[in-house]
Amino acid sequence: MPDAAAGKPVPADSLSAAGAEAHTLTERILAARDAYYDRSEPVIADVDYDSLVQRLEELERLFPELQSQDSPTQTVGGRAETTLFDPVQHAERMLSLDNVFSIEEFLGWSEKVERDSGRPVHYLCELKIDGLAINLRYENGVLVTAATRGDGVVGEDVSENIDFVSGIPRRLAGSNHPPLMEVRGEVFFPAASFAELNAAQVESGERPFANARNAASGSLRQKASSKTPAQLLLMKARLGRLRMLVHGIGAWERPAALSQSEVYGVLANWGLPTSEYFRVVPSAPEAAEFIEYYGEHRSSVSHEIDGIVIKIDELELHAELGATNRAPRWAIAYKYPPEQVNTKLVDIVVSVGRTGRATPFAVMEKVRVAGSEVRQATLHNQDVVRAKGVLIGDTIVLRKAGDVIPEVLGPVVELRDGTEREFVMPTNCPECGTLLAPAKDGDIDLRCPNARSCPAQVRGRVEHIGSRGALDIEVLGEVAAAALTQPTVPDTPPLPTEAGLFTLTLADVLPIQVTVRDAETGLAKEDQDGTEKLRMPFSRNPTASEKKTGATGLQPSASAIKLLAEIDRAKTKPLWRILVSLNIRHVGPVAARALANHFGSLDAIRNSAAADLALVDGVGGIIADAVVDWFQVDWHRDIVEAWTKAGVQFSTPGHPGPGAAEAAGGVLSGLTVVATGSLEGFTREGAQEAIIAAGGKSASSVSKNTDFVAAGPGAGSKLAKAETLGIRILDADEFRILLREGPGGLSVAVTDA
Ligand code: IVH
Repeated sequence: MPDAAAGKPVPADSLSAAGAEAHTLTERILAARDAYYDRSEPVIADVDYDSLVQRLEELERLFPELQSQDSPTQTVGGRAETTLFDPVQHAERMLSLDNVFSIEEFLGWSEKVERDSGRPVHYLCELKIDGLAINLRYENGVLVTAATRGDGVVGEDVSENIDFVSGIPRRLAGSNHPPLMEVRGEVFFPAASFAELNAAQVESGERPFANARNAASGSLRQKASSKTPAQLLLMKARLGRLRMLVHGIGAWERPAALSQSEVYGVLANWGLPTSEYFRVVPSAPEAAEFIEYYGEHRSSVSHEIDGIVIKIDELELHAELGATNRAPRWAIAYKYPPEQVNTKLVDIVVSVGRTGRATPFAVMEKVRVAGSEVRQATLHNQDVVRAKGVLIGDTIVLRKAGDVIPEVLGPVVELRDGTEREFVMPTNCPECGTLLAPAKDGDIDLRCPNARSCPAQVRGRVEHIGSRGALDIEVLGEVAAAALTQPTVPDTPPLPTEAGLFTLTLADVLPIQVTVRDAETGLAKEDQDGTEKLRMPFSRNPTASEKKTGATGLQPSASAIKLLAEIDRAKTKPLWRILVSLNIRHVGPVAARALANHFGSLDAIRNSAAADLALVDGVGGIIADAVVDWFQVDWHRDIVEAWTKAGVQFSTPGHPGPGAAEAAGGVLSGLTVVATGSLEGFTREGAQEAIIAAGGKSASSVSKNTDFVAAGPGAGSKLAKAETLGIRILDADEFRILLREGPGGLSVAVTDA
């Protein structure tokens, strides 16, 4: 969006005006983060996102009283990635970097750090690798875990996959390794490997990856246990093409170095992969030269870069300058301007998202820009379309702003031939016909007010419920959500709203048929026999042998059976997942975890005033208001009621009650617990969550540092190891006591000795 935020004069006089603006900015930034997180809504371009954050920072600098706890300037924008992988708590938080976009801004930053440092500094200039951040934890020189960044505090344990990435030593070379050392770096595909990988994808009939970063993230976050032997071979081959370069350290008691560049020397001597491209310079203008040089020679580098990172080389200054909640003050990222291309604007269509926003989209002739193929870009709203001056049929300039989001810059007017036509924003919702309207006076965005039953919104919400960061229900993706909420047959959808999700039956889903439409023409695709090809049928005809045994009529397909089983299983998933699935504004995994950990049940959340919700670490006024507002709506309460009746568990078993875990410092504070086997009343993840909620550390493997192992039927080698090490083993009931009362609540173990 050509955002009004950027470059606007700062109000010097009015706190209330600044407060109102900061509130709007915060809402927009959080909304963009929500959208980025689940991709169900069009998102704003990175440059615009950055300018919103910059503007908010500026206001908070002028009026520090405006800085609330949930201000996006105080939090890392990443998502707590909640997947099939075990959670790993980083010993030291993984921060992000602040950005500058011009040499002037960079020199402004350097002036300030030099002033704050009170002495001459050296600048370490490095390439900003466009990859996936990884934290390697070494204990006494041995690699113990590799984890993604996640939300900066807790990441995903990808240790088993990192084994296949070449160049990462399992055991460090040399000697004098610290007892604990966290090494941070970036995992990425070198440009040549990425090109080969995509060529292989195309050859085997698979879709190519959109860009090297997605491919790296997708490859590293695969689960070996879910693969067939052939897929496993492919996965290992792909992981083998990944590389890592280290660019920093986390926890490390006494680095054996005085400067960051010396740290790299030490790490390289220990066999860790460091970049060959860095340089230490004694002045900011020389650092600016480095920035300019690589701006012109990006393609000479063997991997994708999206900017330059400048760090103060002196380590003692890192400690002195410190960090904000989000980023260190001793480093800055210079982001290169995004790449631009021309393409044809074929159409502008309006789509309605999960929250009802009606968004015009540019549909373009497919084009490659900044390493990925683009065919659609959001145009945000009717005013933006007008401001950009684009007509349907125009040749347009497209830039891939920052990392992922493509942005239409404007038309190439000279290439018009008179056939172009103006876009007209529809007055009614293209999906349900309701009159579109702004949510409140002064809003530019138009919304469909029929939130409860607009099929597009219901579809979006149902898809969100099934998504990884919510209830992670296998089968319940985009296609199944559409089938359940907008089937071609029957006329009345099985899910007119999400309230009925947990009472779906086979009889509801068997009749469903969905037509597949061609993305380009919008026409229904046909089979060879002329019938419309149906995707995601939940039913099939009986087989010959089934007929022999008397089966008649439609039989459930494997996906129907799986869908219903997975929906049933989701009822007892951790509370935070259930909170995310309620589609409360701004309540993504990070806020939901904070609320679930603190309150332990939906009732406790619902009975709390906004002011109390806002006090929870990780929640602030905006999220608190959104939660309270959500419960004001009758059909929202109906969802909770229907789900409760269907057996959805709206509480964390064994949770000690609102605030109790924090107040007591957590009954498991300082203790490490491993949950293994099937513990009655807990899913595996639920048990891990409960341990974390009680202040403990949930570990995935048993070691001498483990304090308790909670084991249920099916526990295997972890149980055996616990027995060998003499670690106290608990059954599900004892585990519940431990969670509630801590170790003191357990009866003294009776040992054989
Ligand atoms: S230093 C305390 N150096 O960029 C933060 N980061 O946009 C230390 N990145 O989260 C980060 N190349 O994952 C650093 N040479 C480099 C980097 C780099 C890529 C990533 C990193 C960081 C992100 C911030």
